[in-house]
Amino acid sequence: MDQYLTADDLAKTLRQDVREGLTGTPKTLPPKWFYDERGSALFEEITRLGEYYPTRREREILITRAPEIAAVTGAETLLELGAGSGEKTRLLLAALSPTLRSYVPVDVSGDFLTEAAGQIAADHPGLTVRPVVADYEQHLHLLPGGDRRLIAFLGGTIGNMAPATRIGFLGGVRATMGPDDALLLGADLVKDEERLVRAYDDAAGVTAEFNRNVLRVINRELDADFVPESFEHVALWNAGDEWIEMRLRATRDQTVRVGGLDLEVAFAAGEEMRTEISAKFRPERLEAELDAAGLKLAELWTDDAGDFSLSLARPA
Ligand code: SAH
Ligand code: AVI
Repeated sequence: MDQYLTADDLAKTLRQDVREGLTGTPKTLPPKWFYDERGSALFEEITRLGEYYPTRREREILITRAPEIAAVTGAETLLELGAGSGEKTRLLLAALSPTLRSYVPVDVSGDFLTEAAGQIAADHPGLTVRPVVADYEQHLHLLPGGDRRLIAFLGGTIGNMAPATRIGFLGGVRATMGPDDALLLGADLVKDEERLVRAYDDAAGVTAEFNRNVLRVINRELDADFVPESFEHVALWNAGDEWIEMRLRATRDQTVRVGGLDLEVAFAAGEEMRTEISAKFRPERLEAELDAAGLKLAELWTDDAGDFSLSLARPA
């Protein structure tokens, strides 16, 4: 396994993010830190919830379009950013099998990545599987090059980046691409508010637990004493920015000590801390953002219900 993010790097970035996020006004935490082993398992549980349509819709698109994606890209390497369990990726691996030689799943969540990559390798003898622990916001230039790469970024995870980060990220992806490479980008689409909010505030409370998991990660990694139960899950639609926001709302006045940062943080009852944005797109905006990054949209597919999009783009 290639390790661009050592345990030390990870710890340092977490420290920086948490210090910055908890001392800012309003307080925020970046979504990258949801995904320890438990957080990744909770996300997998979210993908199976009735209310959470994105995974199902993207899978529908892949089932229909994977043969076409394989035919037009003829990819030899599949590089997948934020791969997670790689469950939907299996559809791509099957369709690409005549040309594909290697699969490079990239994720910040090392343990989960190793396990998922091991399973994929076992199921695909002959395929070189080379997992990389890296932060795609920092390490794109270090990822393996090669001919005819298909860079996949699925699930709508692009929506979890702040707009400025997203623009920089797309430019960074473009900068690593050769003329025969392609980008396969999953993005969730704007739709009615009620469905959106339900997808991020499920009846069983799995998303709430996923949201609070970031506090457990900080407790463990930075010797903090957050009481997760004293924060409630909030999911709301920000119509101006066209994104879902997840927040954690303090249910009472409290002071949290973060031992590893030698920091005390006061929360007032009702105070909200943003933990994630999940931007929803319109096809025109996707095309314009790809264009601004030097990428030309070749295809934009949606599922039959028009809920989710999968785009294929090439260097302009
Ligand atoms: N692609 C999968 C998983 C999406 S969950 C799907 O479509 O279902 C988002 C994944 O991105 C998680 O596995 C998380 O660990 C990873 N991730 C989040 N931020 C990241 C970053 N900055 N660098 C690398 N991986 C990241
Ligand atoms: C990984 N990402 C695309 C998910 C999303 O829908 O924004 C993360 C998530 N957050 C709450 N539920 C799922």
